[in-house]
Amino acid sequence: MYPINRSSARLTLRELDVEDVDAVLAIYGSPEATEHLSFEPRSREQVGQIVARSITAAGETPRTEYALAVVEQTTATLVGFGRLALDPHQQRGATLGFALRPEVWGVGYGVELVQLLLSVGFDDLQLHRIWGARSPLNEASAKTMATVGMVEEGIIREHVLKAGQWRDSVVHAILDREWRATSAA
Ligand SMILES: CC(C)(COP(=O)(O)OP(=O)(O)OC[C@H]1O[C@@H](n2cnc3c(N)ncnc32)[C@H](O)[C@@H]1OP(=O)(O)O)[C@@H](O)C(=O)NCCC(=O)NCCS
Repeated sequence: MYPINRSSARLTLRELDVEDVDAVLAIYGSPEATEHLSFEPRSREQVGQIVARSITAAGETPRTEYALAVVEQTTATLVGFGRLALDPHQQRGATLGFALRPEVWGVGYGVELVQLLLSVGFDDLQLHRIWGARSPLNEASAKTMATVGMVEEGIIREHVLKAGQWRDSVVHAILDREWRATSAA
């Protein structure tokens, strides 16, 4: 499906553009924003490659990756990054990823962003199951996913190699019927 364009009360999810590299770097290059992510802060060159790859992936058929810009409507600036990646090992399943610039944390955008991603996954792409993996120390992510109705399912042991150390991941997931029940309520 292309293009994706979905809005909530304060945020819009849209396709990435080559002009977005510096705004994405403010997230993926930030030690604070990447503290609990699976990778070290990225360089500008790496972010440029990620944005270029994402734009290419958006044009593929079938499309299996949805790497999207999160735009704050009042300022029209990119404040976050959201991603759904269709799981090749599971029918109608996908993993999700999300991150916001530290300057906009704490005002409810995290919940709004994950709800938008779930809405794309379930309402636009008709997925059955969406899951995310977080660091055991990532309390903000745990609460964000719990608030939108994602159930904590368990631990993937030594899932991520970061700075030479293996790290566990905690899995949170939501099914289409759970999403519909949450949306209806
Ligand atoms: C995770 C992230 C998106 C949350 O964004 P946010 O806009 O600050 O979150 P919200 O304001 O919507 O808050 C969501 C919930 O998390 C809680 N929360 C936010 N920051 C928290 C923190 N540092 N510690 C504990 N709880 C926190 C809020 O109180 C809220 O809980 P509630 O729903 O029970 O009231 C943001 O911290 C971020 O971008 N982090 C870096 C990237 C990242 O870790 N991504 C997740 C990868 S799995």
